[in-house]
Amino acid sequence: MGKEGTGKTHVAVGILKDVIRRGYTGLYWNVPELFLELRRLMRDDAELTEADLFDEATNADLLVLDDLGAERVSDYVIDRLYVLINGRYQNDTATIITTNRTLDELRAQIGPRIASRICEMCVAVEFPEGDYRLQNIK
Ligand SMILES: Nc1ncnc2c1ncn2[C@@H]1O[C@H](COP(=O)(O)OP(=O)(O)O)[C@@H](O)[C@H]1O
Ligand SMILES: [Mg+2]
Repeated sequence: MGKEGTGKTHVAVGILKDVIRRGYTGLYWNVPELFLELRRLMRDDAELTEADLFDEATNADLLVLDDLGAERVSDYVIDRLYVLINGRYQNDTATIITTNRTLDELRAQIGPRIASRICEMCVAVEFPEGDYRLQNIK
């Protein structure tokens, strides 16, 4: 958890790479992009199906869900997020979630059922304020 530019994606991807290097399966999904991809898959000619994508994400040893809370919510998005997070919860597999939101904001955005599972699955790590991206501006 932390504001933009505090290094959340950097740390999440660093852990993911290390886990894959050790022989586990791992997957990275940026949450807003995921929902764009799902919309693309709904076209008739798409080779992959939504179920393929979700199977892969449910079964990976480690899943990184980057930028949760940045997606535009709809009933469809909430429904799919629930299926995904509940799948990880039931399989007892490791999930890293990054967000710019506070827990209260997340709960308001994605609803108490998903937020409650995340609270049980995850240890909250707060990233200190300070945007690394702005340090490049002289
Ligand atoms: N510990 C660090 N030291 C130096 N640069 C960093 C560090 N962590 C992240 N960065 C750089 O800062 C920028 C923002 O990091 P990022 O992980 O994308 O932030 P966030 O996901 O919190 O918005 C990136 O260019 C990243 O490479
Ligand atoms: Mg990020």
